[in-house]
Amino acid sequence: MTATGDVERDVRSDVHGLVQGYVHGYSDREARRLGDQADVLAELLHTGTAYPPGSRVLEVGCGVGAQTVHLAANSPGARLVAVDVSEASLAQARARVAAQVPGADVAWHRADLFDLPFPDAAFDHLFVCFVLEHLPDPRKALTALRRVLRPGGTVTVIEGDHGSAFFHPHSAYAQAAIGGLNRLQSEAGGNGLIGRELQPLLTHAGFHDVTVRPRTVYADGTRPGLVESFTRNTIIAMVASVREDALAAGVSTAADWDRGIADLHRTAAADGTFHYTFFKAEAVSPPLSPRS
Ligand SMILES: C[S@@+](CC[C@H](N)C(=O)[O-])C[C@H]1O[C@@H](n2cnc3c(N)ncnc32)[C@H](O)[C@@H]1O
Repeated sequence: MTATGDVERDVRSDVHGLVQGYVHGYSDREARRLGDQADVLAELLHTGTAYPPGSRVLEVGCGVGAQTVHLAANSPGARLVAVDVSEASLAQARARVAAQVPGADVAWHRADLFDLPFPDAAFDHLFVCFVLEHLPDPRKALTALRRVLRPGGTVTVIEGDHGSAFFHPHSAYAQAAIGGLNRLQSEAGGNGLIGRELQPLLTHAGFHDVTVRPRTVYADGTRPGLVESFTRNTIIAMVASVREDALAAGVSTAADWDRGIADLHRTAAADGTFHYTFFKAEAVSPPLSPRS
């Protein structure tokens, strides 16, 4: 586990054990990283996602509101509802949205996505970003979410896939550090390679018309702003933050880990390059059958 606090222990104890070990934790540093990540990726990930005025939209696992601000800005007039299991994250989300999108219509609920306090078919659209990767049973999660989506409504799911990280200069130490994060995430019940699985997951959860589009980030010295915000502040920060947990779990020696992180920073130098692919899936809740 990363540097965590009472909030995470709270979450682990009272959400049916479903967030068994949230690998990134709820530290201030992680909240900042989520904000940086959402802002640098906003155009890449949110393009094509805008909901009509009056539509009922549920954001699942909103965290500190890093995506909520973009949803609210891109869909003025939509009736947004945002849920998370972490009360502290919700408080930060509320403050972030109030500061960045004043007047946005967002209702906040502390809730477990497996047991949502909403009637069947309560929403026209669902938005789920960087949540499934932390859940032991993402198919069960999607099936549970389908209940609150009206027939014909849409779900948008966005996930990364750490297997898509490749870079120059190549480094086995750097790859091993990313592999170490994947192992920790797996041991916590999650899956850092989930992006490639979104199509079968949504299909098996009963959604129709599933489309998945890879959205790639490639950063090199010609785009120093992207190198700083994505390679350094999003990806390297994410891997580096699990150092203590990786060492405690015996995933790496301190020397190998530190070499891996140093080599990742090398990819952010003027002659380095970094590639990573996110997967954005969209699908539709099936219409009611004539007999239902
Ligand atoms: C990596 S954060 C992503 C937050 C936000 N979607 C974003 O992209 O910035 C994952 C979030 O999912 C929430 N979460 C995990 N399990 C959950 C559950 N069972 N029900 C509701 N929220 C959950 C966590 O509390 C955390 O805030």
